[in-house]
Amino acid sequence: MDLKQRTYLLVTGASRGIGREFAQQLARRIAAEGSVVTLLGRNQPLLEEAKAQIATTTPGLPVYTYSLELESAKTEDFAQILESSGGKKSFERAIVIHNAGTVGDTSKRAKEIGNTDYLQKYYHTNVFSAISLNCEFMRVFQGIPKLVVNLSTLAAIAPISSMAHYCTVKAAREMYFRVLATEESSKDTLVLNYAPGVIDTQMTVQVQREAHDPAVVAMFREQREAKTMLTTAQTTERFIKVLEALKFKSGDHVDYRDALI
Ligand SMILES: NC(=O)c1ccc[n+]([C@@H]2O[C@H](COP(=O)([O-])OP(=O)(O)OC[C@H]3O[C@@H](n4cnc5c(N)ncnc54)[C@H](OP(=O)(O)O)[C@@H]3O)[C@@H](O)[C@H]2O)c1
Repeated sequence: MDLKQRTYLLVTGASRGIGREFAQQLARRIAAEGSVVTLLGRNQPLLEEAKAQIATTTPGLPVYTYSLELESAKTEDFAQILESSGGKKSFERAIVIHNAGTVGDTSKRAKEIGNTDYLQKYYHTNVFSAISLNCEFMRVFQGIPKLVVNLSTLAAIAPISSMAHYCTVKAAREMYFRVLATEESSKDTLVLNYAPGVIDTQMTVQVQREAHDPAVVAMFREQREAKTMLTTAQTTERFIKVLEALKFKSGDHVDYRDALI
């Protein structure tokens, strides 16, 4: 895949962690002229910091930031963001990175997560918002080649103790993107479910601190202490190689460790 095109790029969860690094590295590769970058998150100061970082490496590239709470975001919020950040301009490709995500309450076992108020908010943040944003993205960029990336995980395809919340939303979200890939297979939409490996971010710090299963806590602690946990830069570089090599089929689940480059 040639990334150097006039691109509309939107990244959710771009204020920190993997999303911020994806935005930085992709911004450097898309065409400097005629492209637009849109960063979503809640923390506006961190979004501004991410924007300033892009401006130092790619001066002149327009970057829009929006503070949006995905726990309660509505279809109209996504439509408004896409349109006000240039969704009607002419681009050669539109890319959406569905990166924002939360690990949920890892202190509870699967038999203890039945609080529907919590579940509704958690699913809205991690599943409903991603689906809704994606539908608006597909509508606004109808007729333009599109790349749709979902930040997946091993937990979407394998059960992990302490992660009943997380495994279920990640499985649901990945299946949505697989159906999308199946339906849009003959068209102009390429879908990738990318599992980034285990990364040193606030998410893994939280799991290490809160998981009820001591084996899960130990697994994260050992990787952090041995410095075998990946950095956001490492996984983003691998992701870009996967895109450039283009050896995956639309809808595939590609893990950091897969040799698809
Ligand atoms: N870290 C790993 O080892 C790992 C492994 C596999 C998959 N992943 C996936 O990779 C993605 C990024 O993970 P990460 O480790 O980078 O996580 P992180 O450091 O915790 O960052 C999460 C991002 O999501 C945003 N976010 C969280 N809750 C939000 C909400 N309610 N509304 C709007 N934005 C929200 C955060 O921004 P604000 O705080 O500004 O809202 C932040 O930018 C997730 O989908 C995760 O499941 C991570």
